[in-house]
Amino acid sequence: MHKKIKISKPLVLIGMMGVGKTHLGKLLASELDVDFTDTDLVVEERAGCTISEIFERDGEAKFREVEAQTIQSLLGDELRVISTGGGAILNPMTLNALLERSVCIWVNASFEILWARVSKNANRPLLACENPQEVLKALIKERELLYKKAHIHIENDANNINQIMQGLIKQLEEY
Ligand code: S3P
Repeated sequence: MHKKIKISKPLVLIGMMGVGKTHLGKLLASELDVDFTDTDLVVEERAGCTISEIFERDGEAKFREVEAQTIQSLLGDELRVISTGGGAILNPMTLNALLERSVCIWVNASFEILWARVSKNANRPLLACENPQEVLKALIKERELLYKKAHIHIENDANNINQIMQGLIKQLEEY
């Protein structure tokens, strides 16, 4: 446990798909020696299929419902790290719960960086369309105001992950 961090709430990473929430979340959890949970994986485990299959079979609304329930079920009184799917904050109840019951960390990056990362694999159902770049731009525009409500903002544009992690730990120590 990191001695200078006096937080007894989950640290929840929010931000666009491809921004590196899972990667940063795992590093942060290991640095703090606490549990890490990726809500996309919990949703997949609970549904017994992939997120793309849930979208295809039951639609986005059903996915959002299970995602919201999953996040609410993970919010407790202990320090842990949770990374969420990029659209989790679209649900106002989820966003309010995160702002009240967690320390919410917005991981941000430019469109160019996000596109370079998400275009490498085809596991994002919202981008499985004819104009994924336009959709990605529209999603960023639609969600930015919600992400900005997070308690802590960090940029994952740079290559030096250690430096990003040190900056984040410093913000958490001062929180
Ligand atoms: C989504 C992001 C995905 C996943 C689903 C929907 C979104 O998670 O939850 O495909 O709406 O932005 P990541 O942000 O982990 O890619």
